[in-house]
Amino acid sequence: MQLFKALLSQLLACATALGIRVTFPPSISVWQAVAIQGCLAALFSRSFRQPIWWLPIHLLFVPAVLLGLTWQVPAGLYLLVLLLLTLLFWGTVKGDVPLFLSSPAVSDALIEIANSEGAQSFADIGAGVGTVVVPLGKARPDISIVALERAPLPWLLAAWRCRDLANVRVGLSSFWDEDLRQFDVVFAFLSPLVMAKIGEKIRREMRPGSLFVSSSFPIPNSEPESVLELNDRRKTRLYCYRIGRV
Ligand SMILES: C[S@@+](CC[C@H](N)C(=O)[O-])C[C@H]1O[C@@H](n2cnc3c(N)ncnc32)[C@H](O)[C@@H]1O
Repeated sequence: MQLFKALLSQLLACATALGIRVTFPPSISVWQAVAIQGCLAALFSRSFRQPIWWLPIHLLFVPAVLLGLTWQVPAGLYLLVLLLLTLLFWGTVKGDVPLFLSSPAVSDALIEIANSEGAQSFADIGAGVGTVVVPLGKARPDISIVALERAPLPWLLAAWRCRDLANVRVGLSSFWDEDLRQFDVVFAFLSPLVMAKIGEKIRREMRPGSLFVSSSFPIPNSEPESVLELNDRRKTRLYCYRIGRV
């Protein structure tokens, strides 16, 4: 659906910009028409309620194509970039969760949480490149840690970073297919779009008394046991939910 909306935004913006350029040929240069196209595509995208992170893509897509044509970039390079982006942002184009990395303050706070909970097992569902599990795995070699990541490139990087950490298992799989019953603490940094479904999953699967920590995005209609406000650049909030009280 998101891909369809993106294509429609681009096509409508192209048609409008082309119409403006044809109507006022001497007064509008190609680059001005391209700038108008980018702005229109961004506006159409917003009117179709695409997530905000589509804006830079819409603004820059046609200018990037035009630059590529001007500089005669080899066709193989486009394929390479497409391949790398696909491996990095697997599923994002369908409206799924994109890759953002937690700050060191988040991983420090999670080490403290694991300590205060006396956790023996921990999962990061959507582990990215291992930003959280690597410091935790080093700080607490006695805890059994599972990192689940679906996008191939971040998974590969996380697996490489954890290669010497015997207590960390990095799985190339979807967390929707994983049973969360076995974990004392589960961490997620995902997207507001999936939090209601995540709420259902943790209520169904996690043991009473265990802890679910969500970075930045609360579970709708659920009262967290506590909210930690961190002093990092994003002023990250960690929403901590005690299972049984969610
Ligand atoms: C915002 S990043 C968080 C990365 C890491 N946990 C951190 O805090 O730095 C979310 C990650 O979740 C991954 N992801 C999204 N849906 C997933 C799924 N169903 N199963 C496994 N990973 C998923 C994305 O590929 C992305 O790498």
